[in-house]
Amino acid sequence: MFLFLLAVFFCCGFCDSEEDLGYSLNIGNAIDVFANYGDLSQVTQVVSADYEDEENVGAELFREKNIRVFENVTSKQSPGDTGIDMNILLCESFEDLLTKYFQNFKIEGTEKTWKAFLGDWINDEIMRTFGMELDFTPDNCCYALVKLSKAQKSVKLDPINNIRVKKYVEREIENLNASDTTAIRRFMKSYGTHYIDSFVTGNFIYQVFKFKRPGYNLLKSYIKLREQRKSDFGDLRFYFSSYFLKQVGDIRIASGNKRIEQWARNNLLDSQYLYSRPSLLRVHYSPILAYKLNEMLDDGALLSLNLKILRPLFKDRYKREKYVEIIENDMKLWEINA
Ligand SMILES: *[C@@H]1O[C@H](CO)[C@@H](O)[C@H](O)[C@H]1NC(C)=O
Ligand SMILES: *[C@@H]1O[C@H](CO)[C@@H](O)[C@H](O)[C@H]1NC(C)=O
Repeated sequence: MFLFLLAVFFCCGFCDSEEDLGYSLNIGNAIDVFANYGDLSQVTQVVSADYEDEENVGAELFREKNIRVFENVTSKQSPGDTGIDMNILLCESFEDLLTKYFQNFKIEGTEKTWKAFLGDWINDEIMRTFGMELDFTPDNCCYALVKLSKAQKSVKLDPINNIRVKKYVEREIENLNASDTTAIRRFMKSYGTHYIDSFVTGNFIYQVFKFKRPGYNLLKSYIKLREQRKSDFGDLRFYFSSYFLKQVGDIRIASGNKRIEQWARNNLLDSQYLYSRPSLLRVHYSPILAYKLNEMLDDGALLSLNLKILRPLFKDRYKREKYVEIIENDMKLWEINA
């Protein structure tokens, strides 16, 4: 009973009703990016991690605490793709691979979004998430990240000029002493640092290929040529032959659905490697496999997320500038330390 009263008390302290507090993906809601900085992959479904629970099917794709701070946000939702989209992302280094993997994720105030998502993970864990084996030779070259993705829906906030701020948040801001950095950080913990401006959900399957330099350069010029001519991928297989490769990663799926990963391992075998091994390129050459995969790619992962600093909360220019300044400074510090 006491705990219950305490819970009610806390909720009343921060929000008018518990309806304003959520743990799923709510457009326009605010989150505190520092609450799980370095480990956002744990509270969002963006990579295939090995959880204790092998099943891990149907995990919520967003599980971070968020709070409604705006009174009257509206948004537009549009449907995603009908088919699978194939992307080959060239990466000069392992850090570049992480950057490219998170290229559709933006957090205002940081250039290195991947650090917010994976910065606290140990190297070994990160490698496994990307289906790679730890390799102790110097990391001087280079990776291709192959992604087959399918967007299910995309949601974008309408412009929020003159947005109305929730009354209890407005009251807090009125009483906020913007010269007191401790007070500002306390406010950030309660009401957040960023709001969700847009997101795309769907799913994608991915595989990392580690290249030797000559093979990487060949693939790079082939892709460049293809982009110039706006032509389709032709003989991709050649560029991914074992001769050019150091390592072929395991196939992974962003939603973490082990059933689909297993399907890929069993069905996408490519015999061009010394041992026949799974390769996502198989989907590119087989309409039947592409069709099957298209059926399986559900709405279990986050494909894109755009978080913006909570500027619109503040009508007062001095308070707004102080708030933004502290967030941007803190993000730089966290980025260096992650
Ligand atoms: C929210 O309400 C304010 C004031 O009532 C109005 O000016 C603004 O246009 C509204 N915003 C949206 C997105 O509806
Ligand atoms: C605001 O905070 C500053 C710095 O901590 C302090 O010097 C000042 O007295 C505070 N102002 C009010 C009105 O509390």
